[in-house]
Order: sequence, then C-alpha cells, then structure tokens
Amino acid sequence: MWLSGQLPDSPIPGYLCTPLKSTSINILGIESSCDETAASVCRDGKILSNVVATQDVHGRYGGVVPELASRAHLQNILPVVDQALKLSQTSLADLDAVAFTRSPGLIGSLLVGAQFAKSIAFAQNIPLIAVHHMQAHVLANLIGPKDHPEVIPSFPFLCLTVSGGHTQIVVCHSPEDLKVIGETTDDAAGEAFDKSAKLLGLPYPGGPLIDRYAQSGDAARYTFPEPKIPGLGFSFSGLKTAILYFIQNETAKNPDFVTQNLPDICASIQGRIISILLNKLKLAASQTGIRQVCLAGGVAANKGLRKAFAETGKSLGWKTFIPEMAYCTDNAAMIALTGYYKYLEQDFSPYSVTVNARAAW
Ligand code: KG4
Ligand code: ZN
Repeated sequence: MWLSGQLPDSPIPGYLCTPLKSTSINILGIESSCDETAASVCRDGKILSNVVATQDVHGRYGGVVPELASRAHLQNILPVVDQALKLSQTSLADLDAVAFTRSPGLIGSLLVGAQFAKSIAFAQNIPLIAVHHMQAHVLANLIGPKDHPEVIPSFPFLCLTVSGGHTQIVVCHSPEDLKVIGETTDDAAGEAFDKSAKLLGLPYPGGPLIDRYAQSGDAARYTFPEPKIPGLGFSFSGLKTAILYFIQNETAKNPDFVTQNLPDICASIQGRIISILLNKLKLAASQTGIRQVCLAGGVAANKGLRKAFAETGKSLGWKTFIPEMAYCTDNAAMIALTGYYKYLEQDFSPYSVTVNARAAW
C-alpha cells in the first residue's frame, strides 16, 4: 500500500523519466469529482476521445449520495479509461502525462480518480498533473466546435461558469492565469434549477426538465424577486424561498395548481434565474471592458440561457462562445486539455499530492 509521504516526486520529462516517445504530447485526463466517471485522451491540445459514464443510481434519492458515487466510480473507472484509450488508439506506453481532477468535489469520488491517475503515472513513470475542476470548465471553451475548431475565444475572455455546484464569473488572461471576479454566496445556479424542480415535484436532476417545460410556457406569467446583491456576487437562496411560498399559497387555493400551470411556472422560474445570471455578466463586461464572453458548466445546456446569452451578446457587441454540450457538462476532455496546458508549463504534481473537497483556485 502507498503511503503518501513515501511516494517519489512526479518526474519531469526529459530528466528522471522515460523519454518522450514522439514529438506529440499525449495526455490522459480523468474526471471523477461528482457523479460522472470520465476519461479522455488529448494529443497536442486536440481531443481524441471523450468517454463519460453517468451514474443513474442517485435519481431515486433526489440528489447525489456521496458513498454511492464513490462505489460507482470504482466500478466504472477501469472500463471508462480503457475505452478512452481504445477510441483514441493510444496505449498506456504512448502517454506523456496523466491529468486528474484534484478539487473541488466529493472527497471519496475525487480519491478514486486521483488514485487511478497516480497508479498509471507511477507505473509508466510519467508526470502527474493535478487539475482544478473549475479552471477546466472555463478552458473547455478552448475546445472549438468539431466543424470549426479554430472558433475559440482569444485572451483575455470572460466566462460565466454555471454548474450544479458553482456559479462564477472568471477573467481568463491565459490558460494558467484565471481570476474569479464574482461568485455565489449560497446556492449555485444548477442547484436553483434542481431545488425549484424538487418543489414542483419533478425528479432529480430537475434542471433539464424545467428547461423542457419552459419551452412551451410564458415567462411573464409569474414574477419572482431578483436578489439585491452588490457587485458581481450571486445569491439564489432567496429565490428558492420565494418559490416555496408561492407554491404553498397557490396550492392552498387550488391543489392542482402546479400540474395545471407547469410550463408557465417553469418558464417564469427559468426566466428569473437567467436574468440574475446575465445582469451580473453584463456588469462584469462593462467593468472589465472585455468583449469576448463565454459560458461553461452543465447549466450552459439550458436552451433559454443559450438564447438569451446570444441575444445579449449581439445587442452589446460581444463575441460569444459556448462549448459543445459534451464539454459543458462534467467531462474529462476539459481535464485532459487543462493538463496539456499545464504540461507545456511543466506544472506537475508530486505523486503524494492529495485531493481537496474545496480548494481555493
Ligand atoms: O457541470 P455539471 O454537469 O456538474 C457539476 O459540476 O455540477 O452541472 C450539473 C447541473 C445540474 O444542476 C443540472 O440540473 C444542470 O447542470 N443542468 C441544467 C440543464 N442541464 C443540466 N439546468 C438547466 N437546464 C438544463 N438544460
Ligand atoms: Zn462540473
């Protein structure tokens, strides 16, 4: 058994390790921070494979159960990594480094990916690269669309990262120089969607369902409050409470209120979440003067947000970018790509590096 203090340092290429096999740089990325087990191979910054195993076991509990997530990662990690290598026609011997999500996330889930990454790096005598999940979400914007890979933002760009665990506005000056300029003080945007859905009796994760019902609803039918948070901060807990009281009041008058008005309720909730997000993004763009603006994270899948983001960008003269869907939700391609940029900077971690549930950037 490995004890962290006894592990050797991650080798530096061309120094104490196996020499590079080719002029290409092959990075294996591993993501296991929450309930997706994912692996990807990236060659010279180009994504060759992107495999994700989603864990359905959590649906019946209304949220991710950490212990079940760790166990599912243990079951999934070997076939997922194997598949990512096969699809990219890469063998372990071709790898130049292994990148993995070190933070933030569920500690047991992070540990599975980290130990697996360490084992491969140690066995192959190649560098280990620890990646911050939120940095990777932002850099997913540098994976251009399949048909136009050159269409990516130039530096500096702004990124609104909206996921189940985070809501951040980030200024990105280079792949390794990112600064969080605004974030939520309580719930994340994805949580706001999921908790609202739960109040409406929808199953977890409810974000995509609210999106679907909202498409045929009237967003102006009900009005929910916009929180008064100074600067670039976000807050969604007040909105959740307002929705709870609204539903309690209306169902007291009509027990079938939710089922009879579901599309309009969903559209109104979604509309408010979107206006909260975009009003802060507009403020960030006007404060920084940056006109290249990106979305990232699972909530970037939301059709209403994508449309409103594009319209806002058009009216304010922004150049807007949204990664392909597979790179918005949790994936390992973003980890492999971030690993590639870190590799170029020789930003390696010792094999003794530990995971962290909520490390600051
Ligand atoms: O980035 P992600 O896949 O995982 C985290 O790192 O959290 O984001 C998951 C979140 C969940 O809260 C889910 O409900 C939300 O993204 N989400 C959506 C949509 N698709 C996923 N929220 C609103 N509309 C969607 N279409
Ligand atoms: Zn994420």
